[in-house]
Amino acid sequence: MKKTVLVSGGAGFIGSHVTVELAQAGYDVVIADNMSNCDNTNYCGVCQILGKKLPFIKMDFCDENAVNNLFADFKIDAVIHFAAFKAVGESVNEPLKYYRNNLLSFINVLEAARKQGGCNVLFSSSATVYGEPEELPVTEKSPRQPATSPYGDTKQMCEDFLHDCVRAYPGVKGIALRYFNPIGAHPSALIGELPRGVPNNLVPFITQTAIGRRECLSIFGDDYPTEDGTCKRDYIDIVDLAKAHVSAVTRMVEGRMKEDYEIFNVGTGRPVSVLELVNAFEKVNNLKLNYKIAPRRPGDVVAIWADPTLANEELGWKAERSVEETLAAAWAWEKHLAGK
Ligand code: UD1
Repeated sequence: MKKTVLVSGGAGFIGSHVTVELAQAGYDVVIADNMSNCDNTNYCGVCQILGKKLPFIKMDFCDENAVNNLFADFKIDAVIHFAAFKAVGESVNEPLKYYRNNLLSFINVLEAARKQGGCNVLFSSSATVYGEPEELPVTEKSPRQPATSPYGDTKQMCEDFLHDCVRAYPGVKGIALRYFNPIGAHPSALIGELPRGVPNNLVPFITQTAIGRRECLSIFGDDYPTEDGTCKRDYIDIVDLAKAHVSAVTRMVEGRMKEDYEIFNVGTGRPVSVLELVNAFEKVNNLKLNYKIAPRRPGDVVAIWADPTLANEELGWKAERSVEETLAAAWAWEKHLAGK
């Protein structure tokens, strides 16, 4: 029988790509989103890619009754919780906004899972929980460091909420996926990242500069202790990342978990510096990017990349796309948005 997966925040960047991969893998998907940080572009794109309309519920996961009603209306076999705010800088200025939204929404999901006598819960966590790592690459056993922003705090707290609920409530099982830096877009160029206002993240800033919406990319610091002086990250293709969710959900619904709470790094294991990324973007898309070196951005870690061995072995998942393919997809998406 087909299994049903609820995707909270399913109209967003990661949620929409995960929805497509889940549906293509044969799952019934229910999308729920309050649309506070996106319009319906990605939802429409998802339906176009799949050639059918998926159930969509506009609702806020901070509304406990709405979450309970959702669980009563559908037989939910697994829930993937994306619905959260994610701007690091904003979270420093508005911590309560982040605590209220990111924590309460997840508490409501866990409460609904408990009330229905159990559920498979996948939480969308982040490599931010590792802070500035002492050893590279980071494994799931690398220690979590004190968070450097309320956003990071909410990721750590939600991991703990999930772990505690798995221990306490029979039938509740959990996986936390710790994403490194998700970038790119679907190869169809029908779904992708839709940042509101000036992008905080590197790749949307690059593509918006290339298309002419931004004048110049600032590279934050070239005096870090790395080969070329710029920070290193593990950029993971969004479709590869989405496929990791399908593997994790399948592991849960098929009862193949080794522990009732598991954590996996989702990265490539391949460090890429900011300058390397910019150069790769220019080369694969055959264009010149206007950029300058600017001061360091407060709060940035020098370098972080994943050891993805555990996910490779346990989930049978591996990042497949090259950074060039991913940057070509990001550019195709930006051009699609601009109607070019
Ligand atoms: C941050 C968060 C991460 C979160 C992700 C998505 C931390 C430490 N990191 O990742 O948890 O999941 O955002 O919201 O909390 N850069 C530039 N110029 C720009 C933009 C970025 O040079 O205009 C550089 C940054 O200094 C950094 C790299 O590009 O070295 C990547 O930055 P970004 O895309 O913002 O991701 P992170 O900060 O790594």
